[in-house]
Amino acid sequence: YPAEHQRMVDAHELLGKLYHHLLLNTKEGSDALKYLHSRGFSTEGIRKFKIGYSLPEWDMAVKYLSKRGFTEEELESAGLIIKRENDSGFFDRFRNRIMFPLFDEKGRIIAFSARAIEQSDSPKYLNTPETIIFNKSSLLYNYHGARSEIRRQGYAVLFEGFADVISADEADVKNGVAVMGTSLTNQHVQQLRRLTDTIIICFDSDQAGIEASNRAGSLLVDQGLEVKASMLPQGMDPDDYIRKHGAEKFRADVIGNALTWTAFKLHYYRFGKNLQNEGEKLKYIEEVMNELSKLNNPIERDLYIRQIADEFSLSLEVLENQQKQLVQAEE
Ligand code: CTP
Ligand code: MN
Ligand code: MN
Ligand code: MN
Ligand code: MN
Repeated sequence: YPAEHQRMVDAHELLGKLYHHLLLNTKEGSDALKYLHSRGFSTEGIRKFKIGYSLPEWDMAVKYLSKRGFTEEELESAGLIIKRENDSGFFDRFRNRIMFPLFDEKGRIIAFSARAIEQSDSPKYLNTPETIIFNKSSLLYNYHGARSEIRRQGYAVLFEGFADVISADEADVKNGVAVMGTSLTNQHVQQLRRLTDTIIICFDSDQAGIEASNRAGSLLVDQGLEVKASMLPQGMDPDDYIRKHGAEKFRADVIGNALTWTAFKLHYYRFGKNLQNEGEKLKYIEEVMNELSKLNNPIERDLYIRQIADEFSLSLEVLENQQKQLVQAEE
């Protein structure tokens, strides 16, 4: 890093250690710690991911880091403190929140994501803004921690949030990374591609998560990666699932039974449709037939066409003929 970058990283490392200490060893941090334990996070996990707690005070970071030689201007451009509008001086960006450090590819702290403890505090997560060392849309949470496991296991699991990564890690799924609640970008894909050519997408099972799975998967497929997608019960996210059903079931039923990309698309096109309705049924069949025409493997295509013929009592011959035309149009 150039000197200016290095100083920002140093400030984050110092503050991260303080937050971590406050969470684990002080009376002030005990409610935050209780909250994390009640959610099922272990002390070991809290240590591994260096989770911390920021005090309710307005100037803890200002004072702590000023004393250690950082100027207020430096800390402001690092995103850690904010200039007062009608007054002189600065105040801390993060107060009374659970602090999740965000690490760069070398495992150094370059930003924070701060979770509210009270339900009423909004936003739920407050993130470091864009700085010279932190770009939210190119960061994969736990890339550094998961790197060797992704290589060893031959695939990565892609989550939506870091709570999912941490839960999964505690459930012995240690090849997980997460986007920071943004869509998957080309930069993310390049980082993943350096480690593996196979990705299991395991996003939240709500409307937003399913749409995001479709977009992320399409991007990965277009870039030539092999993609699978996990299906969770409606409304759950991976962290919820692990807490409710346990680690073993998560590994076997969610990761182990992840759908192929085509099978995911067949599910995806069903969402929000009433297949008892003729028009919606026809629309569904059309979407599926289009999807199948993109497949390179004729056996896989044949398999799905038979499924569709069976399910909707359609003539196999008609479907096969239509598929031939679609494939020709693709070429
Ligand atoms: N996120 C964010 N700001 C928000 C909400 C979400 O930056 N107000 C990002 C966070 O990086 C979060 C991810 O989007 O990890 C996924 O969001 P969500 O599913 O709502 O959070 P969870 O990971 O499920 O967090 P929790 O279980 O603590 O509610
Ligand atoms: Mn490493
Ligand atoms: Mn979500
Ligand atoms: Mn979630
Ligand atoms: Mn969650």
